[in-house]
Amino acid sequence: MKKNAAACTCLAPVPAVMVSCGTQEQSNIITLAWVGTINSEPPTVSISIRYSRHSFAIVEECKEFTVNLVTKDLVRATDRCGVVSGKNADKFALCGLTKGKGVAVSCPYIAECPVSLECKVVKRVDLGTHAVFFGEIVNVIADEKYVDEKGRLSLPEGLLAAYVNGKYVSTGEALGSYGFTAKEKNA
Ligand SMILES: Cc1cc2nc3c(=O)[nH]c(=O)nc-3n(C[C@H](O)[C@H](O)[C@H](O)COP(=O)(O)O)c2cc1C
Repeated sequence: MKKNAAACTCLAPVPAVMVSCGTQEQSNIITLAWVGTINSEPPTVSISIRYSRHSFAIVEECKEFTVNLVTKDLVRATDRCGVVSGKNADKFALCGLTKGKGVAVSCPYIAECPVSLECKVVKRVDLGTHAVFFGEIVNVIADEKYVDEKGRLSLPEGLLAAYVNGKYVSTGEALGSYGFTAKEKNA
């Protein structure tokens, strides 16, 4: 038997990421779970920010942001950046995070994160409570060990944390890889 539940924002799992914005001197970090990959060429992501967030005005003004991917060791910092506002604190200092100098954007990246996606805003869509910024990924900064000789990113299983129904979770072991069913006999 099935039952209707109230309409809600219950899509899961989703990433929990720390988005850095602003400049090297005046920066901020906001934790976001409403983040998505939305285009291949050019590579583009969306981030959804409530108008009342300190970061909203920063991203709106600078038109750039950096999406920093989170490992389980960074879950405490991720949560902290999601409950404290940059209006009242320097979240890099508060969380003991290191500012890396942006390469293709003015925002710093978070050096402790294994992968950072530097993005330039190409579009803003206004919805009821949130603005959705579409950001073209113009550069990816990753720990050397995760980049192969051809410049492709390769992350170990279980490295990244995710967010499910209000909880931070580890991603665990792989259950299959893209297209594995097509490689099976009689596929
Ligand atoms: C796990 C988690 C996910 C969050 N996702 C979002 C989100 O997608 N959009 C948003 O506007 N706020 C989100 N927040 C809330 C902001 O991170 C939080 O209000 C933060 O303090 C805002 O910082 P700022 O005022 O410095 O911009 C999330 C918080 C947490 C803990």
